Amino acid sequence: MKVTIIGAGNVGAHCASLLAQKDIVREIILLDIKKNFSEGKSLDISQMLSLVESNTKIFGITNDYSKSKNSEIIIITCGIPRKPGMSRDDLININAKIIYSVTKKSIFFSPNAKLIIVSNPLDIMSYVSYLASEIDSSRVFGMAGILDSARYRFFLSKKLNISFHDIQSLLLGSHGDTMVPLYRYTSISGIPIKEFLSEKDNDIIIEKTKKGGEEIVNLLGTSAWMAPSASVVKMVECILKNSKRIFSCSVFLKGEYGLENLYLGVPVILGKYGVEKIIELKLNKEEMSLLKKSGNYVKNTINKLKNFF
Ligand code: NAI
Ligand code: 2OP
Repeated sequence: MKVTIIGAGNVGAHCASLLAQKDIVREIILLDIKKNFSEGKSLDISQMLSLVESNTKIFGITNDYSKSKNSEIIIITCGIPRKPGMSRDDLININAKIIYSVTKKSIFFSPNAKLIIVSNPLDIMSYVSYLASEIDSSRVFGMAGILDSARYRFFLSKKLNISFHDIQSLLLGSHGDTMVPLYRYTSISGIPIKEFLSEKDNDIIIEKTKKGGEEIVNLLGTSAWMAPSASVVKMVECILKNSKRIFSCSVFLKGEYGLENLYLGVPVILGKYGVEKIIELKLNKEEMSLLKKSGNYVKNTINKLKNFF
């Protein structure tokens, strides 16, 4: 198994490190445009691997895509991250050009790969990558739902003083302010959340979750990478082991939930072929209206890209 990570910055390098420590892939290519950057990061990770007894080999490459040839999974983390005061959408034009060109180069050398998009604004960059790749949309999907869900579970566990391991949740919609909480689908060890928390109090946790990324940007001066990388690695592991777990991922919708021609976070079954099934929940009127609002927001942002293609 060979996995390529494009972008050796905070998210890319940390993904490489976490994935390598799991010892589930033969080879990781860490590629960046900045000379010597991924080489340095890879050397550091390789030396760490001797201490954690992993056999994964990791190679740092400056911009030579031929070295990524025949990768099974390509993780796209390159581009620029948010700085304080910036929204994810402020990154749109710079990152779209980068994502379009790196997708073209990556897929040329690995035509059968699955592409996991991380760069922001996530749902838009997943769409850009899908168009650039010209492959089936089941093989191009974005990471956000797992991260948003992890943040929600973390805040909820603090509020309720309950282990987050026992909390099951599903967040849909765009990665950002229009994310859609599903109170009805949240449970703790199978017990509906309403037994623990009113919907009104849950809304406060949801607001915190929406601002979870921003809180870290304000503290660090750049965006988060630890939890995002762990979320990506969860997806990679699920694909490589063909676990068929249900995660909320940003995927191309072709009429599901009454939405089409856009990427948006919805629950899917993830397996060795990528997105093996999009799960259509029977949303109530209010949930559906929030999802539509999120979809409209993504569509409007895509329209800002209309001179791009
Ligand atoms: P970073 O600045 O640490 O790393 C980005 C890397 O991309 C840099 O090393 C840079 O040299 C490289 N790069 C830029 N242009 C390139 C190109 N054309 N080819 C190859 N490499 C190139 O940024 P960080 O923190 O790693 O974030 C990366 C992206 O991921 C950002 O867009 C950020 O907003 C997004 N992100 C998304 C999350 C999500 O939940 N989907 C969570 C966290 C970050
Ligand atoms: C996050 O949510 C910046 O999208 C990134 O941390």
